[in-house]
Amino acid sequence: MNRADFFLAQLDEDSPVKDYIRELWALSLDKLKSMADDACKNTYGDEVYLRGLIEYTNVCRMDCLYCGIRKSNDKVNRYRLDEDSILAAVEEGYGRGFRTFVLQGGEDPEWPAERLARLVAKIKELCNYEVAVTLSSGLMTKDDYVILRDAGADRYLMRFETADSKLHERLRGGISLRRRIQALLDMRDAGFELGSGFMCGLPGEDDEVMLKNLYLCKLLELDMIGIGPFIPHPDTPLKDAPQLGLERTLKAEAILRIILPGANLPATTAAGSLQPDGRERMLECGANVLMPNLTPVIHKKDYLLYPGKICLDEDGFKCVSCLSLRVASVGKKIVWDIGTSKNYKERN
Ligand code: SAM
Ligand code: SF4
Ligand code: FES
Repeated sequence: MNRADFFLAQLDEDSPVKDYIRELWALSLDKLKSMADDACKNTYGDEVYLRGLIEYTNVCRMDCLYCGIRKSNDKVNRYRLDEDSILAAVEEGYGRGFRTFVLQGGEDPEWPAERLARLVAKIKELCNYEVAVTLSSGLMTKDDYVILRDAGADRYLMRFETADSKLHERLRGGISLRRRIQALLDMRDAGFELGSGFMCGLPGEDDEVMLKNLYLCKLLELDMIGIGPFIPHPDTPLKDAPQLGLERTLKAEAILRIILPGANLPATTAAGSLQPDGRERMLECGANVLMPNLTPVIHKKDYLLYPGKICLDEDGFKCVSCLSLRVASVGKKIVWDIGTSKNYKERN
């Protein structure tokens, strides 16, 4: 059996781990929060890693039903950062202490793997090989991932979005969950520190789907897991979907920390956009990473995956002082470490 099929088959089978996740899901948020906080302190202490996020293109050939920058949204003002602008943002970030940069974008045909690879190599050189580069550029071929890894990219982040095959296929224009899992396995084979995750509260996601989301993260033994609330965008086919509260995301975050104590878990911007203290609440539920947005301010408003996105008018470096206070308010502290996940360190 192909490896992706093996994971899909396991997802549907009963197992003690799945039963444990089910038991956890039945607990109160308060109980989960305290268990997750203990687990996080045991692994990462009170430290919170920073990543500099650069949204390098909002051009996408995909038409995911949930996403504000999907191909069919003709209200989007499309942009692509060129190499010089990206390197300038990196240089400033490096000078100010950032040791990880995350390049995120749509699946942009003008940014094929070879071009991204050249950029990654330049970033590494510019930063004296002291930084980690994370890519979040969507689906590519196995060979592409090898090219990027060989160029020096360290981490790859691609959410599976939902572990329900039918829902996945419907939301992602016919692309199968199997294909997404295969790509994640290809990334791991290429040697990447592997990140994935899902949205919480997609229309069609019941508790069984949520259990599968959590179980798939565990089956894949992910190194980084990004989750956040689904926020309906008015210019997408899901515009009338209900907006769920943050509690579902917080419970999921806490369970992830309990079942994968060595993973890096970001307190995501979507959580902070849904609720003003959303990122702090995620930090209390086991998150240990924050990602200030270093994209040039003039383009931030054009990378609108969902409405109400925070920090659109702020220079990302200003966010750092704001974040220090927020982190301190939950008894944690920012560290400027490269912040490799414990899971990855143990495997390598
Ligand atoms: N194109 C790449 C991909 O799809 O993996 C990376 C960029 S994509 C915009 C980053 C993430 O945004 C997706 O993985 C998805 O989970 C999230 N996202 C998109 N639309 C969203 C929405 N309406 N609410 C919350 N998160 C959303
Ligand atoms: Fe493109 Fe990613 Fe948005 Fe899908 S979620 S439309 S792949 S940017
Ligand atoms: Fe951006 Fe507070 S984190 S202004």
